[in-house]
Parts: sequence; structure tokens; C-alpha cells
Amino acid sequence: MSKPELVYLNGEYPRKDEASLSILDRGFLFGDGVYELIPIHNKKIFYMKDHFLRLKKSLELINIDPAVVDKTDFEKIINSLIHSNEYTNHFIYIHISRGVDNVRNHIYMKNLLPTILVMGEMYQPFDVDTIKQGKMAIIEDDYRWLKSNIKSTSLLANVMLKNKANLNNAYEALLIRDGFLTEGSASNVFIVKDKIIKTPKLSNKLLPGITRKFLTDIISKHSLDFEESNISKDALFDSDEIFCCSSTNPVVPITQLDNKLISNNAGPVTLKLYNYAQDFIKEFHK
Ligand code: PDD
Repeated sequence: MSKPELVYLNGEYPRKDEASLSILDRGFLFGDGVYELIPIHNKKIFYMKDHFLRLKKSLELINIDPAVVDKTDFEKIINSLIHSNEYTNHFIYIHISRGVDNVRNHIYMKNLLPTILVMGEMYQPFDVDTIKQGKMAIIEDDYRWLKSNIKSTSLLANVMLKNKANLNNAYEALLIRDGFLTEGSASNVFIVKDKIIKTPKLSNKLLPGITRKFLTDIISKHSLDFEESNISKDALFDSDEIFCCSSTNPVVPITQLDNKLISNNAGPVTLKLYNYAQDFIKEFHK
């Protein structure tokens, strides 16, 4: 029998299939919490500093004291899970809710002790052939709230949008607010037009993705043409190339948008970035 997988929950390391929480946890009742998802490549934590800063920012934005998390402590917890569960290429999910209240009440009690969960999940990015072939996406109205910069665990709209994409055999739903692209239901979006790589500017309407940051680091390292700009729905359909990015799949080419064929296969700039990203990941963790 293989060893039971362990998670971290509020200072303890229970088995994943036995860990449990109170029904009065505000994360369960209200989605009142934030999360992070961090890739582990070759047993090492990817872009930890950036993930950690975003976690602190998300906590601050929902009025949970960011001091509840400490980077060194989290690194210890994550490394302990990597070690005990023998993780190699996984991702780590961190979930912090406001904590357990006495009653179900929208108004939270002051000084609740936040619930902290850290657990691993298998990491299986798309293979190279799938990347070269590309994926389909649908266009949807961005009907989420106007604080999408917070990595909130209240994900109902994202769940509905991603499932609509899935029902349409699409990888992702690309979201349009007031005529302009914001992001995907679970990814950031880039386009390529006349060899210039473009992505929407950061704002309250989209998540400041760490993979977005990782890719812009690569883009500037290789001096590729790049701009952050508003991308209208028409400009999106008129793109030469489109790709999505997230911690689970750093570059996913979108070759079809609704009924419009964008390109027969993944475009050259997208593939170049995909290869640079793969090389960077290998080097980063040597
Ligand atoms: N989602 N935008 C949204 C709405 C997301 O949910 C995600 C990631 C991203 C990309 O962020 P990052 O590069 O930091 O992973 C953008 C993760 C993978 C998830 O919820 O599972």
C-alpha cells in the first residue's frame, strides 16, 4: 500500500483523505478567503517570492492581517509536504479563510483565527503535441465582480464560465467587459499582432498572474516587441496569435475563437515563448 498523502491544516499534518473543517468556517459558508497556486518543478518552488507577495496583497485587500503568513514558515511547510509526499512536479494549493465564526453571519467577528490549508495536487501540463496543435476558446461576457485582482476563493462565476467552455469542447472562456478583453476564466491572455505581443494592463478587472509576470520577464530578457494595452473584442478576433497562461500551463495557444479560426496551429511567436518558458523552468531548478 502506498503512503497516505499528507496536507497542512492549522499547524498539523493530517492525511488528505481525513483532514476536515468546521461547517462554520467562513470559507465554506461565504467563500470568505483567498488562495494561491504555486508550481513545483523538480521538487522546487517556482516564483515563490511573487506568489507570496500576491498572497499577502490578497489578504490585505479582504482585511485579513497579512502577518498571519510568514514566507519562511510557508517555505518550510511546502518543503515538508514535498518531502513527505515525494512530490516532484506538482502544484501547491494554499487556502486561507477568515476562520471559524460562532454563527453564520455576513458580518464577521473581529480577530478570528484564519484557517490555513496547504496541500499538493498532481501537475500535468499539456504535452508538446497538444501545445503545437493549439486549443479552442469561447468568448463570454465578464460578469464577475470588479475586484478580480484579488485571488479570492469565491470562484462561482469563474467555475460557471470554465464549465461553459468545457461543455463547448473549449479550453477556456475569454472574457469581455465593456467591449475589451480582461482575462480567461482561469488564466491571463496574450495576443500577437504584426509580431507585437500584447496583453491587457493590470487593473481591478483581472488577476495579476504570476505566469503573466514570468512571461513578461522572458519577453524583456529576449527583447521581444511587447506592449500592455487595451484589446478590444474586434482586435482579439483579428489577432495573428492568441495564448493563455497560468501556473498549471505557462503557454496554451488558442487557435480557434468561437467559430473563427485564428491559425491552423500554434503560431511562431507563441511557440517561441513556450520554448523559452520551458528552457527557463529547466534552468531555474538545476
Ligand atoms: N488560476 N486569472 C485567473 C482568473 C486565474 O484563475 C488564474 C490562475 C490566472 C493566472 O494566474 P497565475 O499565473 O498566477 O497562475 C489568471 C489558477 C491556476 C487556479 O485557480 O487554479
